[in-house]
Amino acid sequence: MDKYAQTDHPIHDLLKTRWSPRTFSAQPVESEKLFSLFEAARWSASGGNTQPWSFIVTSRENPAAFEKLLGTLGERNQLWAKNAPVLVLSITKSEREPGKPNAWAGYDLGQSVAHLSVQASALGLYVHQMGGFDRQKAAQVFELPAGHEAMTVFSIGYPGDPASLPEGLRERELETRTRNPLSEFVFDGAWQQPLAEKNASLN
Ligand SMILES: Cc1cc2nc3c(=O)[nH]c(=O)nc-3n(C[C@H](O)[C@H](O)[C@H](O)COP(=O)(O)O)c2cc1C
Repeated sequence: MDKYAQTDHPIHDLLKTRWSPRTFSAQPVESEKLFSLFEAARWSASGGNTQPWSFIVTSRENPAAFEKLLGTLGERNQLWAKNAPVLVLSITKSEREPGKPNAWAGYDLGQSVAHLSVQASALGLYVHQMGGFDRQKAAQVFELPAGHEAMTVFSIGYPGDPASLPEGLRERELETRTRNPLSEFVFDGAWQQPLAEKNASLN
């Protein structure tokens, strides 16, 4: 199933084709592709090049770790995420050193996952990020060191058949994707002054 972004302005196909499915095929994710995804995350920008991100990767090949991570997800997320071939815990190093918070750590981790998602698009893979999980429990069961925080869980895989989803989730899967218009969040030199398009022929 395709859920391409209906854009108001042209964007790259890799961004246009990215979306967050809840169905994944049983096809495993090839190890070399998995490494490419994290290589893409690795080359993301970060404040002071602190690279405050870590990832714990779990897959069906390691059912104990997979189940451990699955068990931290909210019930609704578990319903579909249990069928993903790969589940990843994203972790941010929230302190530069003990007692010294890194204000941009969450921003940097998010950006690295965005890189990873775009690389996934390039490889025909899809990523679905989740905040609906017990962050404290994840930190506990994976024994994260002090100064580190569990931030999200995300699934990686090839798209599956929405018909396999339970009712409720199936409808959500087929919903049209929407976004706020640029005029609501891109401003021209002042708060809430929408950026106006310039006619190229006048330049
Ligand atoms: C930080 C974050 C938390 C999210 N949490 C959940 C979640 O718990 N469950 C879920 O099904 N989707 C979750 N999503 C996916 C969003 O709902 C999805 O990205 C959004 O609806 C836009 O859809 P798209 O990614 O298909 O464009 C989350 C996404 C992000 C970035």
